[in-house]
Amino acid sequence: MDDPLALARQWLDDAAAAGIHEPNAMSLATGHVSLRTVLLKGISDGGFVFFTNYQSRKAAELEADPTCALSLTWPTLGRQIRATGRATRTSAHESDDYFATRPRGSQVAAWASPQSEVLADRAVLDALVAEVEQRFAGVDRLPRPPHWGGYRVTPDEIEFWTRRDNRLHDRLRYRRADHQGEAQTWAVDRLAP
Ligand SMILES: Cc1cc2nc3c(=O)[nH]c(=O)nc-3n(C[C@H](O)[C@H](O)[C@H](O)COP(=O)(O)O)c2cc1C
Repeated sequence: MDDPLALARQWLDDAAAAGIHEPNAMSLATGHVSLRTVLLKGISDGGFVFFTNYQSRKAAELEADPTCALSLTWPTLGRQIRATGRATRTSAHESDDYFATRPRGSQVAAWASPQSEVLADRAVLDALVAEVEQRFAGVDRLPRPPHWGGYRVTPDEIEFWTRRDNRLHDRLRYRRADHQGEAQTWAVDRLAP
């Protein structure tokens, strides 16, 4: 396939079709260096989209240096995708649209939780949630908090790994090449397993 993002989308669809729980769990490394799992919510407009708190550790690291790495692994399918690229915030409109699809409890949590900050104990979090519940009492769908939204990671390199017998796996690396008119072209190399 010429377009690695289309191929990534295909693999994600395959993993979902295979019934894998949270097939979109994606490792995301930022800064120098920290790693956590987020949920990949789409592959669109040339990048991998996830949502988070803009005041979290990962967001602070991405604002300081948008370079990051990600990977998705589906051991039961014998497949892995890894990529490096640069993260930019999704538009307010795109973040609003996604926030609106979240269950109300998740919307409350996004308002209440100062993600990545130290909490003295669980009761502090419970009190923050209670405050938000009070503030939005009777409101069915909460607006998106200003400190919450998406990032799109635009890859400069994506590798597709497929398990093969005797550990002689396939590794196809796509690197962004020059544009040919409107179309993005990619240079593809096979790497040793
Ligand atoms: C399966 C799974 C999915 C997760 N999805 C997200 C997510 O989509 N967004 C998010 O902000 N955190 C998500 N988390 C929590 C993060 O791994 C992490 O704890 C949190 O974002 C704080 O990271 P930070 O302090 O490095 O910013 C998920 C955790 C797991 C285990």
